[in-house]
Amino acid sequence: MDFMELAADRYSVRSFSDRPVEQEKIDKILKAAQLAPTAVNFQPQMIYILKSEEAMAKINRLCRCIYGAPMVFLVCSDESRTWKSQTERGYSSGEMDCSIVCTHMMLEAWEQGIGSVWVRLFDVKEVAKAFGFPSNIKPVCLLPVGYATEDCVPYVPWHDVYRPIEDFVEEL
Ligand SMILES: Cc1cc2nc3c(=O)[nH]c(=O)nc-3n(C[C@H](O)[C@H](O)[C@H](O)COP(=O)(O)O)c2cc1C
Repeated sequence: MDFMELAADRYSVRSFSDRPVEQEKIDKILKAAQLAPTAVNFQPQMIYILKSEEAMAKINRLCRCIYGAPMVFLVCSDESRTWKSQTERGYSSGEMDCSIVCTHMMLEAWEQGIGSVWVRLFDVKEVAKAFGFPSNIKPVCLLPVGYATEDCVPYVPWHDVYRPIEDFVEEL
């Protein structure tokens, strides 16, 4: 699949089978995370793998969007490593960096035949506390991953309804 085909083909998987994801595929997804561009290449991402019964019970309690996935990547920003803008007081690149990292992971997962869904419906403070993170580790998003069930289809009928390009692009 070339990039445009992959981008068009991918959709958020919200129905996962129990089948575990092979370590080789997990490694490729993590490689894609490593290759993602980040501000000044500071690479502030911290990725926690939630797979154990205990970790999965915890995340399922804190978030209702795990959809039966056998594992979850919890993508966090290490705020002690982020780029801080000199021209805009208080700006840290963490969330933006981690979003690029997570996008790489999501697309590489699809390439490997692994479904995923980007999830932000959780309370950052609750998740950080539950996993005992120090104050510099800020949860950005969750990526439940796994094999889609056979009957899995895009959840929303408007999944492939896109705004016309001229609607969101303007020349200034
Ligand atoms: C920032 C962000 C937050 C999201 N949060 C959730 C979420 O909490 N739960 C969920 O089921 N999907 C979530 N999604 C997935 C989107 O709803 C989904 O990507 C969108 O509807 C487009 O559908 P598609 O991924 O199938 O193309 C999120 C996506 C993004 C980018």
